[in-house]
Amino acid sequence: MRRRNSLTLVATDERESKIAGFIVAYSGRTGHIITIDVIAGARRTGLGSRLLSAAEDRLRNAGSLAVGLEAAVDNAAALSFYKRHGYSVVATWPRYYSNGVDALVLSKQLSSKS
Ligand SMILES: CC(C)(COP(=O)(O)OP(=O)(O)OC[C@H]1O[C@@H](n2cnc3c(N)ncnc32)[C@H](O)[C@@H]1OP(=O)(O)O)[C@@H](O)C(=O)NCCC(=O)NCCS
Repeated sequence: MRRRNSLTLVATDERESKIAGFIVAYSGRTGHIITIDVIAGARRTGLGSRLLSAAEDRLRNAGSLAVGLEAAVDNAAALSFYKRHGYSVVATWPRYYSNGVDALVLSKQLSSKS
């Protein structure tokens, strides 16, 4: 979050004054989604989509032409989520995570809004 050109968006549940989700990203010619999390009880309600779209808008406005991220090959929910948002797999990084799981590198062009 302290990284230069990074942004953090936090979604709160106003009734309970609790954090419901957040996203951390940084801009550059190719921006990057560092992490996105929605609390279990708020998933599949569109919150993750709103966070991702808001972050993509900010990256686009900061001049990013594309955005990339990594996701674990066994994270089916995240992979479905990113596919739904127009991301494509561009590489595989073997044993990227500390538990030995491979990462898929995903990417999306940001030049036109989708
Ligand atoms: C990935 C994550 C952020 C998605 O957030 P969310 O708020 O549930 O996502 P949305 O409600 O906006 O879902 C949008 C679409 O993504 C897809 N999707 C999301 N979760 C899914 C799941 N568990 N299984 C299949 N598809 C899923 C669906 O197409 C969904 O649309 P639908 O609900 O109309 O079918 C959330 O599951 C999460 O926080 N996971 C744990 C942390 C994590 O894995 N982060 C990603 C690290 S790379």
